[in-house]
Order: sequence, then C-alpha cells, then structure tokens
Amino acid sequence: MFSAKRAVVPPNPLQKRIAIIGAGRVGGALAGGWVKARHSVTLGARDPHSDKVKALLHTLGAALATTIPKAVAQSEVVALATPWDGARTAIEAAGDLAGKLLIDCTNPVGAGGLALGHTTSGAEQVAQWAPGARVVKAFNTIGFEVMADTHFANGKPALFLCGDDGEARQAVAGLAADLGFEPVDCGPLRMARCLEPMAVLWISLARTGMGRQFAWALLRR
Ligand SMILES: NC(=O)c1ccc[n+]([C@@H]2O[C@H](COP(=O)([O-])OP(=O)(O)OC[C@H]3O[C@@H](n4cnc5c(N)ncnc54)[C@H](OP(=O)(O)O)[C@@H]3O)[C@@H](O)[C@H]2O)c1
Repeated sequence: MFSAKRAVVPPNPLQKRIAIIGAGRVGGALAGGWVKARHSVTLGARDPHSDKVKALLHTLGAALATTIPKAVAQSEVVALATPWDGARTAIEAAGDLAGKLLIDCTNPVGAGGLALGHTTSGAEQVAQWAPGARVVKAFNTIGFEVMADTHFANGKPALFLCGDDGEARQAVAGLAADLGFEPVDCGPLRMARCLEPMAVLWISLARTGMGRQFAWALLRR
C-alpha cells in the first residue's frame, strides 16, 4: 500500500472510511475534498503503483492507494467513479459490497447520449450488480471542477442525490455538505432516471458555450 506523507491534523469525529474506485478526474476531485474534510480516503485502483496514482496521492497529501478489493474491504463508504463501460467490471472486482454505502457517481453516457433510461437508470443497474449495497446516486450532475472547488460568489451549488435507504442518503448529504454543496435529497433510487439526464444537459450546456465552471442551484420561497 502506498501513502503520501501524512500531515498531523485533528481527527474528524464524523470521519468516514471512504474507498474511491477510479482515481481519475471525479475520483481525484472527491478524494481531495474528503481528505480536506479529514475523512480517511483510500483510492482503489487497477494499478495502485501507476505514476498517475502516485501523482494523485502526492497532490492529496493524506490518502492511501491499494487494489480495488482491499480498498473496499477496509471502507464503509465506496464511491464508484469509473466510466460507465467499466462500472460492472469495477463492481465485480470490488468483492462483497453488501451493507456498504455505494455512491454511484457514474453516468451511463456513450456517443449517442444515455445508454439507458426512462424505465431504469444506471444507478438501478449498479444496484443490481452490487446486491445488498446501499446505493446512492450522487455527484453525477456537475463537472469534476465544481466538485474540486464548490465556491461560487452567489450561493452554494446544489448536489442532487437519491437512493432507497434514507440513512445512506443522509450520510451522502453530509459528505456533499463537507465539500461545500447544498445537498438536495430527491428520494428513491429510481429518481436517478431524472438525475442522469440532468448530467446530459450539463454536458450539452458545457459544450455549447457555457464552459465547465457552472453548477445547478436551488431557489426556495
Ligand atoms: N468528468 C466529469 O466532470 C464527470 C462529472 C460527473 C460524473 N462523471 C462520471 O464519473 C465517471 C468517471 O469520470 P471521470 O471523468 O473521472 O473519468 P476518468 O478521468 O477517465 O477516470 C476514470 C477512472 O476509472 C478507472 N477505471 C476505468 N475502468 C475501470 C475498471 N474497469 N475498473 C476499475 N477502474 C477503472 C480509470 O483507471 P485507469 O487509470 O486504470 O484506467 C480512471 O482512474 C464517469 O462515469 C463519468 O460519466 C464525470
């Protein structure tokens, strides 16, 4: 297991042990925020010795990297941040996910848009691949740059999440708030059928002139 030099920081009484499968843009952004919030973060990678993973660990300062099954075994929360076409293989590599809080950050997008929807969603498919896991869809409706830096002059960005386990949703809401988001609990996992198309809208806006430095916000009265 690799570790970057650990800084001495006071413990977080609400600290969670989080495994992140996929040490890419989303995985790296979430890891950065959760390390800052003093959670215990372990990157689960196909090659934990790769230069890419070592570079990310160096940036994070206080995180570990190991194989996917080892990272998952030692964690209570698992964030899935792989491309959609690798999601099933990654879940299979993870081993037993029963009882774990599994945050599905993926989007089932391909060249032609969403690979599935309307009558199901990527998140519901993930739940089938990971029996017994408490799946929460989250962190899929905004770009990784916003996950890495949630500061906007005019308010907090909204983080829409859904899942069938209320406690799991609450825990993910806390993890989203730790990053600076305003969590928005959208209810059961089937609401991912709405959240995944939102990602397509975000991507389309980003590509047609909006750029990537924007987020959704919720207004109330
Ligand atoms: N990019 C965004 O702004 C954004 C925002 C919201 C949601 N998302 C969604 O989040 C997911 C990740 O996106 P990303 O932009 O972070 O992708 P990325 O930068 O390409 O990173 C993907 C990571 O997944 C790993 N991976 C790929 N296939 C795997 C497999 N079969 N098993 C284990 N690990 C595997 C890769 O590891 P290797 O180094 O081993 O290849 C890489 O570390 C996607 O589903 C995407 O739709 C992306």
